[in-house]
Amino acid sequence: MKVVLGVAGGIAAYKAASLLRLFTEGGHDVTVVPTAAALHFVGAPTWSALSGKPVATEVWSDVHEVKHVRLGQEADLVVVAPATADLIARAAHGLADDLLTNVLLTASCPVVLAPAMHTEMWEHAATQANIALLSERGVHIVPPASGRLTGKDSGPGRLPEPEDLYAVCLRELARAGSRAAASGVSAAPATGVRGPLAGRRVVITAGGTREPLDPVRYLGNNSSGKQGYALARVAASRGAVVTLVAAHTALADPAGVQVQRVGTALELKAAVEALVPEADVVVMAAAVADFRPAAYADHKIKKTHDPADPDAAPTIDLVRNPDILAGIVAVRGSTVSPVVVGFAAETGDGEHAVLDLGREKLARKGCDLLVVNEVGADRTFGKDDNLVHILRQGSDDVTEVGPASKDDVAAAVWDAVQSLL
Ligand code: CTP
Repeated sequence: MKVVLGVAGGIAAYKAASLLRLFTEGGHDVTVVPTAAALHFVGAPTWSALSGKPVATEVWSDVHEVKHVRLGQEADLVVVAPATADLIARAAHGLADDLLTNVLLTASCPVVLAPAMHTEMWEHAATQANIALLSERGVHIVPPASGRLTGKDSGPGRLPEPEDLYAVCLRELARAGSRAAASGVSAAPATGVRGPLAGRRVVITAGGTREPLDPVRYLGNNSSGKQGYALARVAASRGAVVTLVAAHTALADPAGVQVQRVGTALELKAAVEALVPEADVVVMAAAVADFRPAAYADHKIKKTHDPADPDAAPTIDLVRNPDILAGIVAVRGSTVSPVVVGFAAETGDGEHAVLDLGREKLARKGCDLLVVNEVGADRTFGKDDNLVHILRQGSDDVTEVGPASKDDVAAAVWDAVQSLL
């Protein structure tokens, strides 16, 4: 999608750099239009480097390209973050004294303004009247967050976090897409993002399950969730409608993705099974515990748990958890037939052993693709880079990926999925 990111002259301009990254990583084509004042906070080279495009503030540069009209006309979304009191006033009254206000006057796409300023300026009757006017005209206003402002004061006026702004923008794009579809104008995918997975419903599991033993202890594993989150981000950027079933992870929810948090393997199973009937693709990247404690103690198990033998250590009985991936494969039929991708965490003693174990697992699990990960104390878990082999059911071909970032691995996995859809 073509996005114009307007940046007005407020200290929160630095946060717009992160918003820009989210847009570009999501596959959007972004032109940044800062005001002259914004450049006092973040300079043109930053905007230019991050967007990969030249940056102009005035209408007088590259006049032959008629940017002051074209940028607004061609945009699918204009978002101004931060929008200062001055920018809001100029927009409300239709002034066109710089490139950004020209863009706002020529845009017929959704416009999102994210005001950020000191509380007194935000609450001033003039600003509030301007906001009301813009809102009546259909501009989407993202109210400022409350909290610490520049200096010692705090109150409403903070620019919301870039991830939250990005989520609002994706929703506005999606709404515009469905309005266009309803009126017969170029049908847009459900997320508003065009791409090879547009309109596909994908379910991704991520993170490590935790199997509670008592109120303070659990059996867990080292999965960070990073690979599953990267898969979710890349799928969303390719237009998929993504539900991420997240077991334990310290990661923040990725933008533009619906996240369902779960704890145990059984909770993960229930969440995934409810989603499978609607899914086009299911990717099991979660590290699911194979075993759980046979009994859960309601109270913390005390160190001296056996009065007859104060030094004895307890024995923990385990029971097998169901194999969720194999279960999904088993219920696939004519009405429900998502592409199913498994992950295999293997610690072989050499590439061949790892691949052999992978092939054996692919046959056993019956999924369409198996992404074989080499794991070990210092490999894969929690790292940003990954080395994987992608195996296909019924084929001897192996796609080797890496060492590469988890986003690059995710891209290779989606390429392989797309070839099966
Ligand atoms: N998986 C699952 N349910 C389980 C265990 C694993 O759905 N109870 C999924 C994982 O999400 C992953 C794949 O199965 O996609 C392989 O996980 P892995 O731990 O490598 O394999 P296991 O089947 O547990 O076999 P083993 O531990 O013996 O290697």
